[in-house]
Amino acid sequence: LQHFLTIKNLQNEQVNSLIERAEYFKAGGKVLNYEQPVYAVNMFFENSTRTHCSFEMAERKLGIETIPFDPAASSVKKGETLYDTLLALNSIGVELAVIRHPHNEYYRKLVNLSAAQKLNIGIINAGDGSGQHPSQSLLDMMTIHEQFGGFKRLKVAIIGDLTNSRVARSNMRLLKQLGAEVYFSGPEYWYSQEFAEYGTYGKVDDLLDQMDVVMLLRVQHERHQQETAFSTERYHQQYGLTLERYERLKKQAIIMHPGPINRGVELASELVEASQSRFTTQMQNGVFMRMAMIEAVVEGRNLGGKR
Ligand code: CP
Repeated sequence: LQHFLTIKNLQNEQVNSLIERAEYFKAGGKVLNYEQPVYAVNMFFENSTRTHCSFEMAERKLGIETIPFDPAASSVKKGETLYDTLLALNSIGVELAVIRHPHNEYYRKLVNLSAAQKLNIGIINAGDGSGQHPSQSLLDMMTIHEQFGGFKRLKVAIIGDLTNSRVARSNMRLLKQLGAEVYFSGPEYWYSQEFAEYGTYGKVDDLLDQMDVVMLLRVQHERHQQETAFSTERYHQQYGLTLERYERLKKQAIIMHPGPINRGVELASELVEASQSRFTTQMQNGVFMRMAMIEAVVEGRNLGGKR
């Protein structure tokens, strides 16, 4: 791959081979050093703990040199565009950029270049607005694959703040494409036509006891315009995974959450590390999946010479 921007163009074979590679890394598979150094930068224009640190860990495990970049201390603050910032980094030798940005499809201007533009840098999308979150989606697929060995006919509920969720938008596509049955729940006004193409809406209490995977989404307060009436307690009681609802899950079902978690809102605090929760497994798998994704772009761009 030249870039890793979205899961939209991935074939099932590519998803399965990324999962296989990530599982190889997780099992302690050998990582061969690159012959020549590969230089990367992680540019996070939105807050992040998991994705940022996990990409950095993945880069270190692959032997990639990471150049520090702090948006708040950069010339972006003087008005420099994202394109010009990358042009500067590329000119000094950076070959890969992992970017999280609040604008949907920020990457279009960086990859659809005119003949006169000289930017030559691999972009890995670490989340664009409410658009896509490819690395989260693929680590989620890895976590499901690890648990069930495949996707066909698995019943997966995606519950919560659908409107703002790049995780929901990425996962619903990949899950459907891989043969899972997708269901949605949470406040019904967050379920729109866009989601209906991928799965049906059901009330939390009608769905839960039939699901193999329950994916809970964070209520993204920072992206809601007016929320004077939002009550965390009411949300938890109406739509959240409470201790009572947890007891009704199938014994082999798993619960997932991309993080960060609003404890006591979408998920009872006591359930974060419950036996059927895969929250920490998801974060652990994220490092290995991101290694596989970075490797795919390094190889696609013939960086680093032979290994
Ligand atoms: N899941 C996720 O993207 O978490 P961060 O915002 O902490 O990176």
